[in-house]
Amino acid sequence: MEMKQPPHESAWLHVTGEAVFVDDMPASTRQLVGTVYYSPHAHARIRSCDLSAARAVPGVHAVLSFRDIPGANQMGPVVHDEPCLAEGEVHFAGQAVFLIAGETEDVCLKAERLIRVEFEPLDAILSINDAIARNSMLGIQRSMGRGSVGVALKSAPHVLRGELLTGAQEHWYLETQVALCVPGEHREITVHASSQNPSETQTLVAEVLGVPKNEVVVEVRRIGGGFGGKETQGNHVACWAALLCRATGRPVKVRLHRDDDMIMTGKRHRFLSRYEVGFDDDGRLLAVQIELNSDAGAATDLSHAIMERAMLHADGAYFVPHMSVVSRVWRTNLPSNTAFRGFGGPQGMAVMETVIDRVARFLRKDAADVRKLNFYGTESRNTTHYGQTVENNRLHLIYDRLMASSDYRERRRAIDEFNRAHEFLKKGLAITPVKFGISFTTTFLNQAGALVVVYDDGTILVNHGGTEMGQGLHTKIRQIAAAEFGVSIDRIKVTATDTSKVPNTPPTAASSGTDLNGAAVKNAIGTLKDRIAEALTVIFNEKDPSVRTDKNEILFQNDRISDRRHPHRQMEFAEAMGLMRLRQISLSATGFYRTPGIGWDKVKGVGRPFHYYAFGMGVSEALVDLLTGHVDLLRTDILHDAGDSVNPGIDMGQVYGGYVQGVGWVTTEEIRWDAKGHLLTHSPDTYKIPTAHDIPKDFRVSLLQGFPNPTVIGSSKAVGEPPFMLALSAWLAIKDALSAVGNHMLEPEFSLPATSEVILLSVDNLKKSLQQKPIKVLTK
Ligand code: MTE
Ligand code: HPA
Ligand code: MOS
Repeated sequence: MEMKQPPHESAWLHVTGEAVFVDDMPASTRQLVGTVYYSPHAHARIRSCDLSAARAVPGVHAVLSFRDIPGANQMGPVVHDEPCLAEGEVHFAGQAVFLIAGETEDVCLKAERLIRVEFEPLDAILSINDAIARNSMLGIQRSMGRGSVGVALKSAPHVLRGELLTGAQEHWYLETQVALCVPGEHREITVHASSQNPSETQTLVAEVLGVPKNEVVVEVRRIGGGFGGKETQGNHVACWAALLCRATGRPVKVRLHRDDDMIMTGKRHRFLSRYEVGFDDDGRLLAVQIELNSDAGAATDLSHAIMERAMLHADGAYFVPHMSVVSRVWRTNLPSNTAFRGFGGPQGMAVMETVIDRVARFLRKDAADVRKLNFYGTESRNTTHYGQTVENNRLHLIYDRLMASSDYRERRRAIDEFNRAHEFLKKGLAITPVKFGISFTTTFLNQAGALVVVYDDGTILVNHGGTEMGQGLHTKIRQIAAAEFGVSIDRIKVTATDTSKVPNTPPTAASSGTDLNGAAVKNAIGTLKDRIAEALTVIFNEKDPSVRTDKNEILFQNDRISDRRHPHRQMEFAEAMGLMRLRQISLSATGFYRTPGIGWDKVKGVGRPFHYYAFGMGVSEALVDLLTGHVDLLRTDILHDAGDSVNPGIDMGQVYGGYVQGVGWVTTEEIRWDAKGHLLTHSPDTYKIPTAHDIPKDFRVSLLQGFPNPTVIGSSKAVGEPPFMLALSAWLAIKDALSAVGNHMLEPEFSLPATSEVILLSVDNLKKSLQQKPIKVLTK
């Protein structure tokens, strides 16, 4: 269809540099720079502080501590355990302690150096094991599952157990955290935010200022990448800018430098997981027991929801008759970890893919066959460990197609041959599935609002609660609005997201931006079309009462409105809108949507948390240099299910980008702190995100065609996060290459990310084991 592929609505503006991000907004002459003085200690008592010298610096307009907060000193989004400015103690290096507003950044830095503060360092908890040893738990242990795992493990023919570490990940959005606050009359304030969650930013700004929400407007034009890092943590910088704005009565912009952003903000949660699996001679899983431990950092943030999604994805794409998952969230003295693409899903799935990989190696089978054997079924073996039925299961279909199109079997043979011929270079191959649940697991968040207005020149302005962070949401919304009105997309503009237009929205997260907001926009347009059709019916019938137009026969198509049965009765869309105004018809309407049919019992861990599942699979081939630990991704094939895609070009972009971001997580992105809890990897020279060199040399992505998802807008499927987890195929391809060192008879030591260091150590250990006992299967 020709309308299917308009480019991203901001693509032109992005490449010409015209796109306005918060830092590009024209500055008022009264505007001040805001900076943050943050804790140099991971854990310390604040004995005393003296701000007088800092306050006396010429050009400095305010230096604030927690005492200067007019409202609540709180910015925890779910649990109120996160002070806006440290009070009495600091709990991580990078925690905000004081705020400074000055005429230039230089004067702010000068003031910062004159702040006198006496810290008394305290013991810091810097790892999950530390936290476990000191019983530093957040919330309670949770569990879910079914069957009798203990009994089934005892009677299983084979049992393996192990431990897996998965690392943290820095979001590395191109636009660092930023907010510009502009004072209005009396207590009013407008916040120009880079936030995935404008309504929550509004709530927290109102709370720290001690004002009602109707005095705070949050506007988000676009975000320079969020990836979950601005689902809650865009709120922080907005609160700080708002406090400085209130204190000075001037516009204030706070924009973090890259290093500060990396030091101050939370990351993907690292996990320490344990598993035990019982299976039969064919590799069929009989029982799996999984324990998940996450590093929450110093405050709760979204840690419980993230752990919940990890638990709900610990089954991967596999039916396990007896399964139990227990989880604990641990508090440490590090920045509070937060949402990151996949939201715990990747951490949970990495454990199950490790289980499958080990079962296959133990039985000397190709892991692809063990995967196929254990996929959820279509008629039976199709309920998850939390009781939701896997409907419209596309795993088998995608597997069969991708195995064929990627030429998996033939390449496996070629790789085995290559590995026999090369001592220092090894190749590996892996196929891994994604089955990702779509819906916020916090069920009430599955709602959206819209406000659609039509002007009497026939142009249309669409407001909705979702934010544009590069993922193409506004483009898709524009297409949906154009299709509903039957007009060309250039009539439609999507405004900046604005809390005064659409209130009480969820974050743009959980990949559900288009599903939710698209449906709300459609709902609003339905209301408008009803009104317009009714008025137009009257107009048509007035002209010639001998012909009767029926309201239900009014058609919106090709920029015209017509009577389906009497096609001569028709009018150009713009002309009709002019008439609507003369006829006193309201041309603005709100729309609303809530996802139907979902809900679950969080305590029992059973129910239907997800509206549907998104499926996909990836086959990756890796070449590993055993002498340097360097990895080349030679080829990746992906087949991903986006339903009837609203915009295939944009969805392909999400698949490419999600996969490559996942490759970063599983290979080179390693976060390190020193023994005192200072981040060592706080800039791009020490923290290695993927570059153009790390993209697979041969990269073949397709969207599954011809499988609509009828209960969702446009019969499409959410696509934002699921492709991230396809990168587990790259991770296991590397492990497969290492495994070739021991002729696939030894279990390589492995963790995530598989950095060069991890690879070299693993090779070393494999070679040592080979010297001791040439052919032995390690079962741990
Ligand atoms: N794509 C781009 N370009 N930039 C982003 O920040 N965030 C991802 C994904 N794709 C992101 C992105 C995350 S974490 C989510 S939840 C979804 O987009 C959110 O948008 P959606 O619900 O509209 O897909
Ligand atoms: N995904 C993303 N964000 C969320 C979720 C989720 O499932 N639940 C609460 N916030
Ligand atoms: Mo995405 S991690 O749900 O913002």
